[in-house]
Amino acid sequence: MADTARIRPGAGHATTGVAGPSRKGRAPGRLPVLGHAIPLRRRPLEFLVDLPTHGDLVEIRLGPKRAYMACHPELVRQVLLDSRTYDKGGPLFDKVRPLVGNGLFSSAWAEHRLQRRLVYPAFHPGRMASYAAMMCEEIDAVLCSWQEGRAIDLGATLHALTVRVTTRTLFSTTAGGGAVADVQHCLPIILRGIYRRMTAPVGLLEKLPTPETRRFEQARKRLGAVIDETVQGCRRSGADNGDLLSTLVGARDEESGERFTDDELRDQVMTLLIAGTETTASVVAWTFHLLSRHPEVERQLHDETDRVLQGRVPVFADLPALEYTRRLVTETLRLYPPAWLLSRMVTVETELAGEKLKPGATVLYSPYLLGRSPGLFPDPGRFDPDRWLPERAASVPRGAMVPFGAGSRKCIGEAFGMAEATLAIAAISTRWQLRPVPGTTIRPKPEAALGTGPLHMLPRPRRFGTGSGRVNP
Ligand code: HEM
Repeated sequence: MADTARIRPGAGHATTGVAGPSRKGRAPGRLPVLGHAIPLRRRPLEFLVDLPTHGDLVEIRLGPKRAYMACHPELVRQVLLDSRTYDKGGPLFDKVRPLVGNGLFSSAWAEHRLQRRLVYPAFHPGRMASYAAMMCEEIDAVLCSWQEGRAIDLGATLHALTVRVTTRTLFSTTAGGGAVADVQHCLPIILRGIYRRMTAPVGLLEKLPTPETRRFEQARKRLGAVIDETVQGCRRSGADNGDLLSTLVGARDEESGERFTDDELRDQVMTLLIAGTETTASVVAWTFHLLSRHPEVERQLHDETDRVLQGRVPVFADLPALEYTRRLVTETLRLYPPAWLLSRMVTVETELAGEKLKPGATVLYSPYLLGRSPGLFPDPGRFDPDRWLPERAASVPRGAMVPFGAGSRKCIGEAFGMAEATLAIAAISTRWQLRPVPGTTIRPKPEAALGTGPLHMLPRPRRFGTGSGRVNP
């Protein structure tokens, strides 16, 4: 993606008129003991977008603990490009690791470098065409099940779709259909449970024998067992089946000769399932929500899909021609980045915007806050995919558009997620126009990903050549 790709170490500030970061500030409304826990829990998005008015680096309190929000893109770059000083870690990660394992997303700097080298081949651009073929099959199957006028919950439908796509690309050729069905059943329970445990103020939840705790533990055990069985099957066969798992099983580090152990493989597979499903599903859901409110943008999308696809379903080779669709995804990612709030832990004493930070300090960045900042994006509330035309995108400051992060911890699934979202949007809008069920109100749900919640929509069939926005009578 042009926007995030432009972030590189040592590069100067883009010519945008954004002043260098120097202002330190504190978020107002801090309460004793609770700090900013109440606004962060009740209205986190509003709280975040207000922070840049208080400084470039703003101190907030997570309960009694200090944390620093990097509100200036230059500070975000400093943090993201120095992943040794600003490592994954801290109280949030300590809660997540026992639940999801020590995979690529949560591992600390020292282990991450080897892990990343071993996982990378599974995301090599040369692999993408075969993954995209599976994506297209799955998208097509969903679209064939829709009926005119029969309302669908688009949020839930897309989530089920991305779980199927990720599961199939991960291990469809190795595991049977039963395993895929198990993943589909277990993953939503696990995702919900992880978020609840991450945000629970005290660690009591997992200890209480509630039905939710039992369901969560059962799902975790079942998913772990499915992954282990599949890994064993893959090891026995010894073949590269073209799926992600066989690449991970066969991966060997050239420098050290190391391979993943079974436990490490389980953690990596779990991580990919968790990181790769809700994120992509929510960006597609938000896109259709926005399209239903911006008919002029929808018309341009239809013009492109009609011209490029001529009424057929898209394939991998169509992606370069689906330029507007891609800009649309990028613009949705600016307004509704699935990863809306992320954290780092300082490992050695350092200085950020003149503030001395001690080891253990928490630094935060928020693609949501940055994407909505009027100092970085003119008229930020305006949904305008053409702000990503190359000549206009060039004026976006480096570090301002980071929906996939940046530096060595940048999303390894960016190309995968962008391809899946672009293909899904193009395929859906070739055949269907989606309109909200009357009376539907959508409020962003800032949970593990920034979701739409239930998104009830009515599909209306579209006919090729009705790019002006008309649908079949
Ligand atoms: C639109 C879709 C997606 C978005 C917006 C997204 C966003 C992100 C972000 C912001 C990070 C960096 C987190 C940080 O700085 O702490 C990240 C990391 C990661 N993502 Fe994604 N992601 C998406 C899709 C995917 C997919 C499809 C996969 C895999 C199939 C995936 C796997 C990962 C992994 C493994 C990491 C950790 C990378 C590392 O630390 O080396 N993501 N993602």
